[in-house]
Amino acid sequence: MRPNELMQRLSLQHPIIQAPMAGGIDTPLLVSTVGERGGIGFIGAAYLSPDRLSSAVAEVRSLTERPFGVNLFGPVFRPGLPADIGRAIAAVTPAYASLGLQDPTGPGVPDDLFDARLEVALNSGATALSFILSPPTDTAVDETRRRGMTLIGTATTVAEGRHLEELGVDAVVAQGAEAGGHRGTFAADVSLSLVGTMALVPQMVDALEIPVIAAGGIMDGRGIAAALALGAQAVQMGTVFLATEESGADATYTRSVLAAADGDPVVTTVFTGKPARAIRNRFIVEIEDAGEAAVLPFPYQGELTGPIRSAAKRQHQAGYQAHWAGQGVGMARSLSTRDLMSRLVEETDEAIRRLSGR
Ligand SMILES: Cc1cc2nc3c(=O)[nH]c(=O)nc-3n(C[C@H](O)[C@H](O)[C@H](O)COP(=O)(O)O)c2cc1C
Repeated sequence: MRPNELMQRLSLQHPIIQAPMAGGIDTPLLVSTVGERGGIGFIGAAYLSPDRLSSAVAEVRSLTERPFGVNLFGPVFRPGLPADIGRAIAAVTPAYASLGLQDPTGPGVPDDLFDARLEVALNSGATALSFILSPPTDTAVDETRRRGMTLIGTATTVAEGRHLEELGVDAVVAQGAEAGGHRGTFAADVSLSLVGTMALVPQMVDALEIPVIAAGGIMDGRGIAAALALGAQAVQMGTVFLATEESGADATYTRSVLAAADGDPVVTTVFTGKPARAIRNRFIVEIEDAGEAAVLPFPYQGELTGPIRSAAKRQHQAGYQAHWAGQGVGMARSLSTRDLMSRLVEETDEAIRRLSGR
């Protein structure tokens, strides 16, 4: 296809962005392979220490000379720890016990590493820097502009997209409700921001001057062609890469993904306190049954459930892990990233050919 503005900016041969997937999924090999195959991969830095982010960047750069991106969770307002954390503690205690962990006492308070991560990202040699959970900070806007990096924000409503455009981002990810992982919602109530990709993308395209990237439920060439038809200049795909050979998802996660159907991934706050889409499992059911008061705000809930998720991972217990995935999960494919990228390109061409009757 003829390169559009965003493809030129990011040196893309194909309009395919591998979504940042913090938590070890977006390995340097995944990021670099997507780049080598003509797309662009992102390193999700949300849970990486600045040193580990530097190492991930160095590894990607040792594997490819192609562009790559870095993604940050933007700074999020931290409420004080609620006075009564008893219900939250009581709700997770059975999970701690079931995994052989000592009873929880209370959540720790994670260090705020945003500035340090931003510094590494700005000096990483990345072509693009993207944000989710909040708009980019003024420093990010100024410094990416100074360096000629492409700055990307994530929006789940048109109003959020407009806000990001006014701030000066170069492109917006329009994240539909189908998407796996955290909701990028930052300016509205999450229940009012679950707009599907099919509805969100064209409205965003009409409202903004800057390029729109479609995300959420796009799993094959039909989805890519549809997103392009809606006016998106590229797609950002997460779930489709989960079961690839280069993905950092372990065997338990991969099994959950390959066994899941469209209705299994649900939006829940039980893992981190922020709404995110994950495959429904025992932990989600148990904590949601305990009621809203049993979930602490972000980032405390994440601290409280961190030991559960780590132990469950070590013990291969799918019931207590956060298996993030989108509603397209039933179309996940177990392939090498190289083969997946080739198929996505072929399928997109085929879908466009079919529609144009050529
Ligand atoms: C496992 C997983 C982790 C994710 N982590 C991040 C992240 O760290 N930063 C981010 O901006 N988006 C993250 N996302 C959301 C993606 O950017 C994107 O919106 C989503 O994957 C698109 O929907 P899809 O999963 O249906 O392709 C994550 C998605 C998944 C599936």
